[in-house]
Amino acid sequence: MMHRVDTMTSMAMTRQQKDFLSLEHCSPESIIQLLDRAESMLPVVRRTVPATPVLAGRTVANIFFENSTRTRCSFEIAAGHLGARVLNLGTAGSSSSKGETMLDTVRNIEAMGVDAMVIRTDRSGGARFVAENVRCPVINAGDGTHEHPTQGLLDLLTIRQHIGRFEGIRVAIVGDIIQSRVARSDLHGLVSLGAELVLVGPPSMVSDQFKEVACGPGSVEVSHELDPILPELDVVIMLRVQAERGSSISEGYTEGYGLTGRRLEMLDPGCIVMHPGPLNRGVEISDEAADDQGRSVILQQVTNGVAVRMAVLSSLLERP
Ligand code: CP
Repeated sequence: MMHRVDTMTSMAMTRQQKDFLSLEHCSPESIIQLLDRAESMLPVVRRTVPATPVLAGRTVANIFFENSTRTRCSFEIAAGHLGARVLNLGTAGSSSSKGETMLDTVRNIEAMGVDAMVIRTDRSGGARFVAENVRCPVINAGDGTHEHPTQGLLDLLTIRQHIGRFEGIRVAIVGDIIQSRVARSDLHGLVSLGAELVLVGPPSMVSDQFKEVACGPGSVEVSHELDPILPELDVVIMLRVQAERGSSISEGYTEGYGLTGRRLEMLDPGCIVMHPGPLNRGVEISDEAADDQGRSVILQQVTNGVAVRMAVLSSLLERP
């Protein structure tokens, strides 16, 4: 069942200019409204309710200068559920491989008459750069190490479905924090909603500087040891080591920071296991943890991703 544009959500979007670029600049109220809107979209995603084509006649350009499976496909499915036409452009097969700049590419796509652009780039701040140079709404689908705000929203939605609240819950994000745009979006969203966050990883991947990054009623701690915090967690979010950004898997990484079968046993029975994907099985997460029927909610995150992207697209584009 579709909702008309929620005025408060639209205002929150307007305050963020015309675009959806980060969770750092979303108010807690606007985050909750987007989660509520996404929740209302889930019956369409699960195919139990027919979609309403509120974006019929509109065109959404999916422009991915970096590889993606989940984000690109779920934006395409989300736009399709809303009745929009989708244009997919990746680096392979496009003229960026001939040296065209990102700015020239997006200006050319805009000149063809699109209503919104979904941008993924390896440049931190790249989505904002595009947004400042085109008239149509721009959605950040992950920009370098900066933010991945729709991943942040789908993580929040999954946590709310299982834990039921954010205030006072204890969440660990484990792994290559320093290179992770997912960690930054999760951090801004969770702290603004009152969660207690523990960032865990080796000193090369997380430092005390992260304690100063977010503001809100929640808190951020940094730990270089995983085992002592496991029993007190409501949520554990495992991250991949991002080799494409120069990180490497050091000797002993899995022993120190992997969610192994032994560590799975140390979690509270109610603690959920999350991962944004793609998984490097046997490195940051074991098969037992990834496939644990009771605790792993990794595929539910993916389903929620479609609903969240429907919520963001419709909030930006739906006409009153
Ligand atoms: N979580 C995520 O961003 O996955 P993709 O890189 O496959 O889009």
